Amino acid sequence: MAEFTLPRNSKVQPGKHYPAAAGAKKPRTFRIYRWSPDDGQNPRVDTYEVDVSSCPMVLDVLLKIKNEIDATLTLRRSCREGICGSCAMNIDGTNTLACTHAVDDCSRGEIPIYPLPHLPVVKDLVPDLTHFYAQHASIRPWIRTQSPAPSDRERLQSPEERKQLDGLYECILCACCSTSCPSYWWNGDRYLGPAVLLQAYRWIVDSRDEDTGTRLDELEDPFRLYRCHTIMNCTRTCPKGLNPAKAIAEIKKLIVERRMA
Ligand code: SF4
Ligand code: SF4
Ligand code: FES
Repeated sequence: MAEFTLPRNSKVQPGKHYPAAAGAKKPRTFRIYRWSPDDGQNPRVDTYEVDVSSCPMVLDVLLKIKNEIDATLTLRRSCREGICGSCAMNIDGTNTLACTHAVDDCSRGEIPIYPLPHLPVVKDLVPDLTHFYAQHASIRPWIRTQSPAPSDRERLQSPEERKQLDGLYECILCACCSTSCPSYWWNGDRYLGPAVLLQAYRWIVDSRDEDTGTRLDELEDPFRLYRCHTIMNCTRTCPKGLNPAKAIAEIKKLIVERRMA
């Protein structure tokens, strides 16, 4: 079994060790990042040996730790169904959702669990998503129209128009993709990142939206859009199986087509 070791110059301290309970049927070892803004200490990595026999998913393990071993462990979760996006974290080296990631799908040694990378940490596994949400708000993610709404019904779509939103509307804004993107790590202050760009494309291709020109104008910027260098980490990591890199490529294509028209 591979031993997890911290790099020699790491500021992360070796942490506490919680051994498995006597008689554990299926013990697995989890190495979990811990940091609190309240104690003035450097981050540390605590080791928990957990009986996972009743924990199919990594979220089950984290809740077992919190409920039965160490109540101070802090994490976000809500739906337990891969819908709310709040349990996104770095598990076993990959950004994913704790509630849909099976323990049996983790590698065979110790399982490291960290908050989403390259974001400020609020506490333990909880990242600060304030900037990410502000970026999402900046694209004004709602239908923008100039024509008056029909008086007797909603703005309708044909089945074909509705189909254009498949692969986009399913995004739960978990931020797994953006925080796996090297361009977003280094330029996240100005680059919108794959999650927000996928959302931008979702509104661009919505047949009911009447502000496509402005949306493209607002994206045509060396930083907001063009920091994507097609590295594809985003698409590889998306726990919902979406393809943000393709959405970004489609936006770039629309901008080129518009220039040539
Ligand atoms: S595209 Fe996928 S990884 Fe990115 S925010 Fe949406 S659901 Fe999460
Ligand atoms: S394809 Fe673009 S958005 Fe996706 S990881 Fe690469 S640089 Fe980031
Ligand atoms: S708890 Fe909602 S996505 Fe995991």
